Amino acid sequence: MRYAKILATVAMFVSFMSIAGYAEGNMSKLNLMPWPAKIEMTGGRYRLNQNFEVQVTGKPTGRLYRAASRMLRRLSQRTGLFFSQDYLSPDSSVENPGMIISADRRGRLRLYMDESYRLDVTPSRILLKANTDIGALRGMQTFLQLLEADSSGYYFPCVRIEDHPRFPWRGLMIDAARHFMPVNVIERNIRGMAAVKLNVLHWHLSDDQGFRAESKTFPKLTGMGSDGLFYTQQQIKAVIKYAADRGIRVVPEFDVPAHSTSWFVGYPQYASAPGPYTIERKWGIFNSVFNPTLNNTYVFLGKFFKEMSGLFPDKYMDVGGDENNGKDWNANPEIQAFMKSHKIPNDVALQTYFENRLVPLIMKDHKDVMGWEEILNPRLPKSAIVQSWRGNESLENAVKQGYRVILSKGWYLDHYFTAEQYYLVDPVPGSGLTPQQKKLIIGGEACMWSEYVTPENIDSRIWPRAAAIAERLWSPRDVRNVRDMYRRLDAVSLELDRLGLTQIKNQGTMLRNLAGGYDVAPLRTLVNVVAPFNIYERVKAKPYSSFAPLTRVVDTAVPDPMVARDFSSMVEKILAEKETAGDTIDIIGRELAKWKENDARLEKIIERSPILKEIQPISRNLSAVASIGLDALDYIRHNTKANPDWVKANLAAIGTDSAPCAEVKLMVVTPIESLVRYAGQK
Ligand code: ACM
Repeated sequence: MRYAKILATVAMFVSFMSIAGYAEGNMSKLNLMPWPAKIEMTGGRYRLNQNFEVQVTGKPTGRLYRAASRMLRRLSQRTGLFFSQDYLSPDSSVENPGMIISADRRGRLRLYMDESYRLDVTPSRILLKANTDIGALRGMQTFLQLLEADSSGYYFPCVRIEDHPRFPWRGLMIDAARHFMPVNVIERNIRGMAAVKLNVLHWHLSDDQGFRAESKTFPKLTGMGSDGLFYTQQQIKAVIKYAADRGIRVVPEFDVPAHSTSWFVGYPQYASAPGPYTIERKWGIFNSVFNPTLNNTYVFLGKFFKEMSGLFPDKYMDVGGDENNGKDWNANPEIQAFMKSHKIPNDVALQTYFENRLVPLIMKDHKDVMGWEEILNPRLPKSAIVQSWRGNESLENAVKQGYRVILSKGWYLDHYFTAEQYYLVDPVPGSGLTPQQKKLIIGGEACMWSEYVTPENIDSRIWPRAAAIAERLWSPRDVRNVRDMYRRLDAVSLELDRLGLTQIKNQGTMLRNLAGGYDVAPLRTLVNVVAPFNIYERVKAKPYSSFAPLTRVVDTAVPDPMVARDFSSMVEKILAEKETAGDTIDIIGRELAKWKENDARLEKIIERSPILKEIQPISRNLSAVASIGLDALDYIRHNTKANPDWVKANLAAIGTDSAPCAEVKLMVVTPIESLVRYAGQK
């Protein structure tokens, strides 16, 4: 009796701890991402076998049946179990369901849709219950992430999860304009989004470098502005359906008034300069901009957006609005005269004039608008959503004026920050806003601008880092343990790999192409410890354009490479625990020895692959710094103190050997420096 009481108290305490949202104890093994709002380990396991069957009840939708069927196939593919149940449908009869999924109603795909669910895994049965089929979809993703294995087979640990998102708008923006991304790229990324519970695909469909959505009203938009690389309306409908089937909204962006060169290749009459226009091949901010003083501009845009409003069912139409440099407005005497006669003092005010004529046209089609923070102006309807991308001031400014905002500042994937950096960005500032104002912050979006990505490597720039952002947008604010995030992020990346995303597998293809052969091991060893230059560094490095090759080492290297991250963690552990021997030291020693010898091996490949010549210096540098690291490890292992001159000389040598080259940077320099300093402290 007494013991039972103590145990119950302990159990209560444990479950209380777990509800606080932290991955502790048993939960530290779960690979859930995003981490649920509430989770409790209830003890025991549900063992999976070939008799596993799923029953769908409540008011199921076709979407729910399809999702449950996909879930079953994914489980079967992962476990090799030959389930007897085929595709689920209203006609399926299930004798003894191992899992019951119930949803009370069809979820409407819109902002503030109900995505909550409860998942109860017990040793005998799994219950997934949601108000909407969309909530059930989210729960199925959690369920799939729970799968574990031991020597007796596959199982689900028993848990009770009550989950719902922190923010209703959790987006991924993909720029399909600068480099066109075929439908299969978009669809596989939609699968990735679904896996981590992102719910808005923001599809950037027009920019200076290309117009990517077919318009039947204005066929010259893609006819002349796309190089033939665009989505037909049929393809767009298919993508929207594919996303909807996964509970994901699709919001198109047609960026106006600037970033608009591709519009004017076919329709120069609406531009502010006489033209002619050609598709822009370079990156940057250009002068092309709609002429806001012409009535015909609004007639044209009104018709265009009406057509697109019919094509895209989402409530929101994104009108862009960013980075108008005003130069073509300033250079046009008629526009200047118009500004004078209408008492429009400057370019910003002229853009406001433009937005205030455009927005009502779009709202007439029963849409609400959204746009980059530049659309903010006192007459913008309060239904508009503002996307903050330059700084937190714009976010606070907008909510103080009563607008809803989504955050993208800090979440530009092309800036190649680490997952940790993205993860620790929080949309809601700690102070300065009232609770009411904070409610207007409805989420955020990871942004994948496509200057430096192609269909071949775009996934490796989006994933797995976007999953860290997905967690920030879904999970409670206090879920912030970086180490645990990385543990789960690496698991998520494998899951995405299984779903057909290419962030892992395409690197192999790219390395084989670079090496011109099958033996890529030494090249991979180097690539595993370098990170690519970010967008600002690359702009300065080479004359990049839309047709520049994006097949070099820099394009295969990933931001935040796992091998370098693990190496840093191991060095941190050695330093923290003042180790002089042990497994970690041995692993580090082997790693350093491999790097030291790698240059000679890679050299043989470089000799026959001129495309790799540019990485010769950094390959040599890796060997040089690894050699210093090994010397430091010798001191550490022998528990002898390196003299200050040795430390100084080697830190200086590392400094010289750590210079970036070929647009990549060595990511193991700092931990090796730490080893050298540690050797001097013994
Ligand atoms: C932007 O990055 N120009 C929105």
